[in-house]
Amino acid sequence: MNILLIGSGGREHALAWKLSQSSNCSKLYCAPGNAGIEAQAQCVPIEVSEIDKIVDFAMEKSIDLVVVGPENPLVDGLADKLSEANIGVFGPSASAAKLEGSKGFMKDLCAKYGVKTAKYGRFKNIELAKKFIEETGAPIVVKTDGLAAGKGVIICETTNQAIDTASDMLSGAAFGTAGKEIVIEEFLEGEEVSFFALSDGKTILPLTSAQDHKRVGEGDTGLNTGGMGAYSPAHFMNDDLEQQIIKDVIEPTIKGMASEGCPFIGVLFAGLMVKDGKAILLEHNIRFGDPECQAIMMRLQGDLVEILYAAAQGRLDEVRGKISWSDDTALCVVMAANGYPASYKKNKQIKGIDEANAVEGAYVFHAGTAKDNNDNIISVGGRVLGVTAIGADIATAQKRAYKAVDKIYWSEGFCRRDIGWRALKALS
Ligand code: AMP
Ligand code: GLY
Repeated sequence: MNILLIGSGGREHALAWKLSQSSNCSKLYCAPGNAGIEAQAQCVPIEVSEIDKIVDFAMEKSIDLVVVGPENPLVDGLADKLSEANIGVFGPSASAAKLEGSKGFMKDLCAKYGVKTAKYGRFKNIELAKKFIEETGAPIVVKTDGLAAGKGVIICETTNQAIDTASDMLSGAAFGTAGKEIVIEEFLEGEEVSFFALSDGKTILPLTSAQDHKRVGEGDTGLNTGGMGAYSPAHFMNDDLEQQIIKDVIEPTIKGMASEGCPFIGVLFAGLMVKDGKAILLEHNIRFGDPECQAIMMRLQGDLVEILYAAAQGRLDEVRGKISWSDDTALCVVMAANGYPASYKKNKQIKGIDEANAVEGAYVFHAGTAKDNNDNIISVGGRVLGVTAIGADIATAQKRAYKAVDKIYWSEGFCRRDIGWRALKALS
């Protein structure tokens, strides 16, 4: 099969790495890709937002399956355009992508189909928002309805902060049109976990769990980021919790989407809060998480092309037995440019990646990298590398990942040294 992967991050490098191992993959392209993805795919200079160019390219190269990494092109209708052109696509239609593209849509759908989420209100008007905030009390969470590159969720410690935040969002000052409508919800306590499941619109194929580290600083402090590291599986995941997540969250969501006339095809990534052994949904995403995907792909045993193609074709029930998970733990440490998630420098040379790849169980997935004119690897983004390793337990995976990190020479980069700390603390 000819496959086209869309995206340029660590998630996409991990997908390219796994897709390229399939005997069903004859040619893999990636748009736009990065310097690491070049090892597995032919990178083509088309941006993820250039929907018409992607469709034209897929037709020209007789692509059988397009695998879409990021959410934005899906929300903007990439899967619909590809389907109209009779090109196989793994990823939801624009109407199904609203599960992530509109937090209000997601909350209303969950309320209608019995998925438990935090108590909430949807607002376009500051006076009504203010009343809801005062009635609910703090801490309280204010969210943009639309996509805001992972930055549109603000946890407010006081009602005054929440009112100011809501006001800045609704005026358009803080997040432009993404914040013209907002969701305000009660603050939930507990431990966070990500759970992933594939769907072809009707059948569900549960995947596995992971835990992300969203804050920039060690001990989970400082600013929120896209993710500074992850490991899979989550240390407290067990069969009971997994079954509860599938029954209470994944199944009613997939059924609800089908009933609403927008069947969900793709990977559903549920962000959950677990308390007293039960999970409540924080949010749905319509794609793999990054860095979670990097850890997950290392544990996946099976043919990723076959599985994603079956999902795209509505035949997920046929591949149910064809996927399994290593019992080992995989752990990803993100190396980011100094200053991230605020401003940072680009075009700095990185060395030592081959040496890092030689560490037992380790592989360096690239995110914001490119090659300069002399073929040196340089940094071109905030999150730059996902140094990932697998081992018999989390301590081994962590040791290997940091051993690989220490082989990398990049004067302008940093990483958290404590990825996996919650699991290690719970086990000690
Ligand atoms: P998001 O990027 O939309 O997944 O949300 C960012 C983070 O905000 C989540 O990973 C949680 O840590 C936090 N968060 C979102 N909603 C709530 C909530 N209702 N209660 C507590 N934390 C939340
Ligand atoms: N790691 C969180 C996300 O991909 O949204």
